[in-house]
Amino acid sequence: MIRLLTLILALMPRLIPAPAEMQVRDGSFTPGAGKQVQFVLDKKAGLPAEGYIIDITRSRAKVTASSEAGLFYARQTLSQLEMAGQAGHDVIPGLTGNLPCVYIKDYPRFRWRGFMVDAARHFMSVEQIKRHIDILSQYKINVLHWHLTDDQGWRIEIKKYPPLTQVGAIRTEFDGSVTEGYYTQEQIKDVVAYAAERFVTVVPEIEMPGHSMAAIRSYPELSCEKQPVGNFYTWGSPDIVLCPGSEFTFRFLEDVIAEVAPLFPGKYIHIGGDECKKVRWEKCPACQARIASEGLVADEKGTAEEKLQSYAVRRMEGILAKFGKSLVGWDEILEGGLSPNATVMSWRGEKGGIQAAREGHDVVMTPGSAGLYLNHYQGDPKAEPECYAHHSVLQVPYDYNPVPSELTAEEAKHILGVQGNLWSEYIYSDAMRDYLTFPKMFAVAETAWTPQEKKDFPDFCRRLDAACARLDALGITYHMPLPEQPGGSFSQLAFRDSAVLTFTTSRPMDMVYTLDGTVPTAASARYEGPIVVRESGLLRIASLTSYGKLSPERKVTLEKMEPIPALHPEKLSGKLSVRHTPGRFILPHDIPFGTEWTTLELEDIRKIPKLYPFSGNMQDPKFFAAEAEGYFRVSATDAWQFSSLYDEVWVDGRLVVDNRGEIRKNFRHDGSLVLEKGIHHLRVVFLSNVNGGWTTARNKGEVLVRRAGTEKWRQIEIQ
Ligand code: ACM
Ligand code: ZN
Repeated sequence: MIRLLTLILALMPRLIPAPAEMQVRDGSFTPGAGKQVQFVLDKKAGLPAEGYIIDITRSRAKVTASSEAGLFYARQTLSQLEMAGQAGHDVIPGLTGNLPCVYIKDYPRFRWRGFMVDAARHFMSVEQIKRHIDILSQYKINVLHWHLTDDQGWRIEIKKYPPLTQVGAIRTEFDGSVTEGYYTQEQIKDVVAYAAERFVTVVPEIEMPGHSMAAIRSYPELSCEKQPVGNFYTWGSPDIVLCPGSEFTFRFLEDVIAEVAPLFPGKYIHIGGDECKKVRWEKCPACQARIASEGLVADEKGTAEEKLQSYAVRRMEGILAKFGKSLVGWDEILEGGLSPNATVMSWRGEKGGIQAAREGHDVVMTPGSAGLYLNHYQGDPKAEPECYAHHSVLQVPYDYNPVPSELTAEEAKHILGVQGNLWSEYIYSDAMRDYLTFPKMFAVAETAWTPQEKKDFPDFCRRLDAACARLDALGITYHMPLPEQPGGSFSQLAFRDSAVLTFTTSRPMDMVYTLDGTVPTAASARYEGPIVVRESGLLRIASLTSYGKLSPERKVTLEKMEPIPALHPEKLSGKLSVRHTPGRFILPHDIPFGTEWTTLELEDIRKIPKLYPFSGNMQDPKFFAAEAEGYFRVSATDAWQFSSLYDEVWVDGRLVVDNRGEIRKNFRHDGSLVLEKGIHHLRVVFLSNVNGGWTTARNKGEVLVRRAGTEKWRQIEIQ
């Protein structure tokens, strides 16, 4: 019975997104001489926008649509239908294979089915952007939101202001390497045309008034202080922003839009508007003069400076209108009031979107909290490659309903659609960009297209296997659920007699493993339940898809050991002995021999990253190295786990947490030792530096400890 069910499911079409209506019939249609798929463009067919009908019997196959877009989407569906019932690896690009007999009436739930790429933090090549357009349009995504300017880079050629790309498109990183790139206007036109052929509208984003350091670096007179600003090699939102008190700012923005608007035939231009700090405006005579002359006063809707942001956004809306464009902005544009024609992109949860829809604005839903931020971890952060933060598995954007239940039917009409955003701060390679985009964007595509009641996550996973096999055929990297350890994955485990290792995956999937050091294969032992280990060795484990592909493997070093004896120091001061020295060090061994140190004692280990004053501004920490040592106590003879963002954590002379050369933003690399009950020696090394754009002076300086097999971490206590 189960085998029969498996067979039937294997033969079921594997369409993503699932169509609005589908009936599967018996048999198949084989195209051949005189028996081709018939495509009919019938404007009077009365189909919804972008909709189509596919009607296939054994003797004929007919596609009807009322628009070219509908025919395009029907072709995408046919191409996926061709694969139904076949092994996932048989990808057929043309329409020559068998098609199952089906009747499909299909149309999108939303008209905005978006994907945002951030080319500003890390540049994305024209080839890669085309590749993403090509793949995502096959899954009926129809908007590419192109984030082209930000603090860390200006990526679009503006002929009137060459320094924007001569200066603003080049960034020297903390370690001296250079990150650069921009699109010429010809390249932009090429991408826009490529997208248009695939029914994808490109919406450019030109950020204002915040996130504009690359522009200010090129033209300091755009800021309130008008002072030169340095190379910007960290993430975060600086407080130096455009000056809305100055007419030059708006002349500049108008000149930029005059060149941008003709490149993008779509209706919308996105003006950013998010995360604009206003402290400089409070002190800027020009901004304060503007507040006075415009009569902007603080009230229950916001401060005078928030009204100034609203003023700047309205001016921007006027500029866009001159060029026939409509404004889209992040939900902060609601601050201080917003003109009715603006469209709001709700990213800080749904609140902004709900408020905007109630006020009559169109809305695109893209809350990070609902899994729409593709730069969030797709699995356990301690097992996944380093990325931004947070943890949202594939099912989160899949289950998301972009129409909040709080809205009336009338208000809900303002929800244009939904969008996945891929911010690129922590994306250092094309492979990582692909890894975070796929397959999560397929879940977003289904949320954007398929009626909510037709969504079914287990069935989506079945269909997803076929989509992933298509990615394999294209050589595209994508996320596969890794074997993860509940309570936090680790790659090293010390134990005394035996230990139990439990693994899960972020969606149901088989796992295979070895304990003899060999690479796991599909034929290796299946993971059936917790693994008991009694000897030192190496556990290698991988997930296994239904189409026979293995995930990247995870390795856990198993270390059987006798307890490290407790120490009996003569005196316990309750303090750490700390030494520190200023300097820019990337790795602990960069600290030169003979360095002069300053010494002090500290009770609280968490104060080490703040030994030198730090304003919280990512760009402006003091760079230094610090080492600290002291004693702590464990309450039982057992294996103990340690977790920290310090560069190194040593216990009794053994390196137990090794974060050297890592970004040190998210806890990873937990390690363990078997310790005898009593006092043990601790030593930590901390480098205040910037790695991959992250400023470690922001770290909390914790060393967390827990008894192996327990869940709760606690802060280590210095004895
Ligand atoms: C955003 O993530 N700052 C829109
Ligand atoms: Zn100003």
